[in-house]
Amino acid sequence: MAKYEDNFWRVYWGPDEAKGDEKLNTYFIEIPEYEGIKRGDYRYIIGRKGTGKTAIIEQLTNEIDGKYNQFHKYLSLKNFPIQTLRNLKDKTKGDKSQFVPIWTFLLLTELCKLIIQDENATPTQNVIELELFIKSNFPSDLGFNETLKILAGSENKVSVLSSWLGIEGKSSESLEVLTPVHFQKVTEILGNLIRNIKSDCSFFLFFDELDEGYSVNDKSLNLLLLALFRAIENTYIELKEYIDFRPVLALRSDIFENLEDNDLNKLDDYLINLKWTTESQSPYSLLDLVNARINASLRVENPQKAWECISVNKDPSLPRKIATVWDFIYNRTFERPRDVVKYMKICSKFKYSGKINFQAVKTAERDYSEWFFKEFRDEIQSHLSIWQPACQSIIKLGKGVFSLDEIKLEMDKDSLIANFLKNSNKTHEDVLEKLFEFGVIGNLSVSKKWFFKYKDNNLPFNPDQKMLVHFGFSKKFRINAY
Ligand SMILES: Nc1ncnc2c1ncn2[C@@H]1O[C@H](COP(=O)(O)OP(=O)(O)O)[C@@H](O)[C@H]1O
Ligand SMILES: [Mg+2]
Repeated sequence: MAKYEDNFWRVYWGPDEAKGDEKLNTYFIEIPEYEGIKRGDYRYIIGRKGTGKTAIIEQLTNEIDGKYNQFHKYLSLKNFPIQTLRNLKDKTKGDKSQFVPIWTFLLLTELCKLIIQDENATPTQNVIELELFIKSNFPSDLGFNETLKILAGSENKVSVLSSWLGIEGKSSESLEVLTPVHFQKVTEILGNLIRNIKSDCSFFLFFDELDEGYSVNDKSLNLLLLALFRAIENTYIELKEYIDFRPVLALRSDIFENLEDNDLNKLDDYLINLKWTTESQSPYSLLDLVNARINASLRVENPQKAWECISVNKDPSLPRKIATVWDFIYNRTFERPRDVVKYMKICSKFKYSGKINFQAVKTAERDYSEWFFKEFRDEIQSHLSIWQPACQSIIKLGKGVFSLDEIKLEMDKDSLIANFLKNSNKTHEDVLEKLFEFGVIGNLSVSKKWFFKYKDNNLPFNPDQKMLVHFGFSKKFRINAY
């Protein structure tokens, strides 16, 4: 009989980012809503950084690529020319409505590009006309960026067949005559043409990486995002009876929660919040996620307990209160796939062989903590300008558990914090609440139970309770966790 393997250091953990991960389909964990996303029931994926928003899109892409009757386009808003989009707003409207027309136009042009790929779509004449429209205006298929650039360079106009505008030419060649017209005029025509198309195919548009360059204080950026939600939802509803159009938008939860708009409530049924747990054999299980990666690389004795097969999980050298090596790792994360996988990857950089034990995990903790802090920084920096001095005051205090009075005293020694509080009319508690919101600190109850926001999103911050530093930061903050 072939031998089983138990060498942790032979597991391939994959890249930090799901985008472009060619092995993803060998260890992808299907979340319960996955089929619903595929069907178009869910259109909005909300989750913290590293919770697997892109992974879902990437996996859908993998599936679609293998099907003759499904098409997709990935629209990254990374390095998106926001200013160009702003200039294209409809000045006759107010608030987010200004930006809905341009987003709708962008959406429809991308959808057209997909539809014309279906060789069996009818009526042929409609498809030919759409194709001509795309080819003559947006020849290089570079997505939103190209469309915006072309609009900006042509006084917001695109060329369409004269017949679209009801202008009849004299000769039979009139069909070929193109007329420049404002893009907003074209939106309705495109919508009508699409509604007339008969196609058996599904068309997916994926929106990702909207968080690049995000700042909470930029109110008009919030409007832009709200307008995008509206444009997607409107377009979906207007087309769903006619064509199988499935938009999917991924957005970081901190940004989503900052968008204040009554409209967003209406999206509740079509939205999922990615939230993982530790339990094995349950939906959203991080242990299963790790097991899947192990099983994709190794043949272990018990695939359902793959982690136990390659670790000294109940290492006797663990601190007294911690039952397993897994718990030690897990307590240093925000319960997000990327955190767990990253910890494993850092462990695997140190050369050992055989099963992973507590010593190896302990050695990796310093690098992990550095990385974890940077991830946290990426999230908090646009929400709290003084995040750095605020963390510094915890470091200076040098304790894993502290009271409001203690941390206040420390914060008052920092002039940056003092100025911030004065100028923004905020209190120490407000600052601490932000730290609580992003998980650096939690509350410790009288009965010594700890509470972190990432475990329960509805948990209110209680400044009167003791606070404790998240274990993922203890190495970085040079605090003794136990
Ligand atoms: N459902 C999943 N199954 C397997 N791995 C996942 C899953 N979701 C996320 N991951 C892994 O977690 C990491 C972060 O995922 P990613 O999609 O890049 O996060 P986000 O886009 O939310 O920031 C990647 O390594 C990815 O492979
Ligand atoms: Mg992503």
